[in-house]
Amino acid sequence: MAPVGSRSIRLFRNLAVRLRLLRIACGRRYVYHDLARLLPPAAPEISDLRGDINPFALAREFPPSPGGLPDFAGIGPAAAFTRPELPPWNSEPGVAEFLGELIIRRKMRLVVELGSFVGWTSAHLALALRHNGAGRLHCVESVPDFIEVARANLARLGLIDWVEFLAGESLDASILARLPAAVDLVFLDTTHQYDATVKEIACYASRLTPQGCLVLHDSIRWGGVRRAVQEAAAAFRVFTFATEQGNGLTVLLKRP
Ligand SMILES: C[S@@+](CC[C@H](N)C(=O)[O-])C[C@H]1O[C@@H](n2cnc3c(N)ncnc32)[C@H](O)[C@@H]1O
Repeated sequence: MAPVGSRSIRLFRNLAVRLRLLRIACGRRYVYHDLARLLPPAAPEISDLRGDINPFALAREFPPSPGGLPDFAGIGPAAAFTRPELPPWNSEPGVAEFLGELIIRRKMRLVVELGSFVGWTSAHLALALRHNGAGRLHCVESVPDFIEVARANLARLGLIDWVEFLAGESLDASILARLPAAVDLVFLDTTHQYDATVKEIACYASRLTPQGCLVLHDSIRWGGVRRAVQEAAAAFRVFTFATEQGNGLTVLLKRP
């Protein structure tokens, strides 16, 4: 048995780390770099989520567009899209703007959003297509009431003509039959369950153009998405980022 003195030294040595973890847990601020900095003294290193990441390699894949960017901030805050009684499911602003900019930098035309909720990310995707001057956004959402809210939001912003809403589930045969056979961008933000995410990746990757991108939200915070992304590394080049609320975003590019 360790002497009482050395046990209390150990207790105090770890106290600061445990208090900081408690603060993060209470604040629900699971910021990846915070955890990565905190955990090594108390736990094994976090190494389950990797990326082939030289950030400049990703930047080279998406050179800036000479035509600049539209006014994404003019879309307004996510709070203006939703209703107080609905859950706070919108992606972070950095995610919405990243997706819009991706469409512009790659001059993408055909875009599918799986899980559009009240249309916050959809508005950024549609604004980017309008900026490019051509294209179509197909929004798949399983809850018809959310589609009505999203439709009203996109109409309010003058973006409705760029969007087709499909009520149903991402893997429904009837939905798949109505989506284009070749797609430039798929944004996947649905159940966050492992099995469903694995199937969605396989199903929609087969529709990606050779230069196409599959982007997943919540690839750090949600274990199911994280595991599916981890296993996708054999077939894709994987780029994972922390986002404002630590939810994480992953871009999958097909390996040549
Ligand atoms: C996290 S929210 C999407 C948020 C939205 N992409 C944004 O960032 O503003 C997830 C949405 O996916 C929908 N959903 C869940 N499972 C689905 C499925 N299998 N197919 C289509 N939509 C689904 C939910 O109803 C919900 O509206």
